[in-house]
Amino acid sequence: MNIQQLLLDRFKQALGKIDAPKDTNLPLTRSTRPEFGDYQFNGAMALAKTLKQKPRDIAEQILAAVELDDMVEKLEVAGPGFINIHLRPQWLAQTLSDALSSAHLGVDKETPQTVVVDYSSPNLAKEMHVGHLRSTIIGDAVVRTLEFMGHKVIRQNHMGDWGTQFGMLLAHLSDKLASDQVAETALSDLEDFYREAKIRFDEEEGFADRAREYVVRLQSGDTQCSQLWQKFIDVSITHSEEVYKKLNVTLSRGDIMGESAYNKELAGIVAELKEKGIAVEDQGAQVVFLPELADKEGKPAVYIIQKSGGGYLYSTTDLAAMRYRSFDLGADRILIFTDARQALHFKQTEMVGRKAGLIREQTTYEHCPFGMMLGSDGRPFKTRTGGTIKLADLLDEAVQRSATLLAGRESDLNDQQREEIVRKVGIGAVKYADLSKNRTTDYIFNWDTMLSFEGNTAPYLQYAYTRVQSIFRKAEVAQDGIKGEIIISEPQERALAVQLTQFVEALQQVEKDAAPHVLCSYLFELASLFMTFYEACPILKTDVAAEHRQSRLLLASLTARTLKTGLELLGIETMEKM
Ligand code: ARG
Repeated sequence: MNIQQLLLDRFKQALGKIDAPKDTNLPLTRSTRPEFGDYQFNGAMALAKTLKQKPRDIAEQILAAVELDDMVEKLEVAGPGFINIHLRPQWLAQTLSDALSSAHLGVDKETPQTVVVDYSSPNLAKEMHVGHLRSTIIGDAVVRTLEFMGHKVIRQNHMGDWGTQFGMLLAHLSDKLASDQVAETALSDLEDFYREAKIRFDEEEGFADRAREYVVRLQSGDTQCSQLWQKFIDVSITHSEEVYKKLNVTLSRGDIMGESAYNKELAGIVAELKEKGIAVEDQGAQVVFLPELADKEGKPAVYIIQKSGGGYLYSTTDLAAMRYRSFDLGADRILIFTDARQALHFKQTEMVGRKAGLIREQTTYEHCPFGMMLGSDGRPFKTRTGGTIKLADLLDEAVQRSATLLAGRESDLNDQQREEIVRKVGIGAVKYADLSKNRTTDYIFNWDTMLSFEGNTAPYLQYAYTRVQSIFRKAEVAQDGIKGEIIISEPQERALAVQLTQFVEALQQVEKDAAPHVLCSYLFELASLFMTFYEACPILKTDVAAEHRQSRLLLASLTARTLKTGLELLGIETMEKM
């Protein structure tokens, strides 16, 4: 249940009774300090202007009209006309026990939408690198959250598996195979392979021509060439899948819908746009002029859909993908995760697509940009020698560093269990460091801050979860076997309880803004409030009354389940001990 929504509904009804205009906005926020209650309604100030009355008088009228006795113990007017809302502890307790007895932690499923999510989408000509890390893990967290909220999610891994560079790669591969190498060996290191091919393309006589020939053959569907291409693609996809497995992301082969899949549609798209008068010829190319996006001199932006030589572009494919997703897949929402540098491309694509009717009116087209991952010098993240860092290497290093962090801990774990924990902490740390930052900004990649038990980190949250598990081991009770009721008396219990009820609010925001950092902040706050609660409100000490012990165990149990579920939605694994 979403408390904020519930309160909003009641205030809306109240405003109806005092004859406020129908379009009055309803600013209802969480209070910033406990003395201001749990939520605050700030609508009276704006209404005062419209109704030409004093804000405090309006606030008093709203107070008299709003029906909240069941859930609120105190309502008060403060300052110029704020209404502070203090929730009733019994009502909070009831809300929490409902959450405890629900498999879905009391989060109601929403009216299901069909959401197409385009994420990861690496270029297969090269190995996946850190640039694709953000798209993969942010997209995956959003996908998991959307599914949890009850939506039908269709993953689309829009892999870059097409284009002129494949001519050069296939020509090079064909030579390697002719000299008896198998594709797997030849392509064991895609970066090296690409570099070799590029050198030949630039320097070797005749090679560039052969490369171009391969492009033509590939595009005309030549069987032998297609088989060669398929070999290349297969090996490269396997490389990506290794990374997905290490990263614990939910993408599978069936989610791949690469650029090549739209190949057959492209000529038709261009023809349709020309027919509708949306695309015109300009210096031999087919382009769409966008006066809406004119530059300072008033020159319209130019969106090219076919090059003068006849070749199609990234943009043409995106138009075809848009149509497929909206009409064939029936998307209500299309989300695309790429770095912010592509923002203009997607803005233009949407504009052109809407003019041309390639997207249904009710489908939203949401480019979800993210900032860059930077090194400690504030520059794009690179190896010491300036090369691109391979994702697979980065993840291996994370696991090694996690082993160092966890070394020397006393525990009764065997080697296999320890290895498992080291892996979960290392990978979790990298993912969480990324997810916890506001998606749209650049961030500095820093091993020391992400692999720390202090601060807003994965190890901190994973540790908090194990803390609760150890309480239950000591108490010698199963988490689902606790009897009794939740009693909220101490302020720390209350703070924890309120936070627990707000899980759904965090999830709804992730859902709406495709912003997993909101969930990270929520979980971090939850874990911190739990630690404070645990210090102030003993659970297992002998002098704690049985009913408080039971109640606190219930709060601990719901905290653990919320942490685990929340981390799962971020794609981060938990462990029972560490
Ligand atoms: N392959 C592209 C890249 O690495 C990302 C593709 C994103 N999706 C799309 N529909 N254009 O930059």
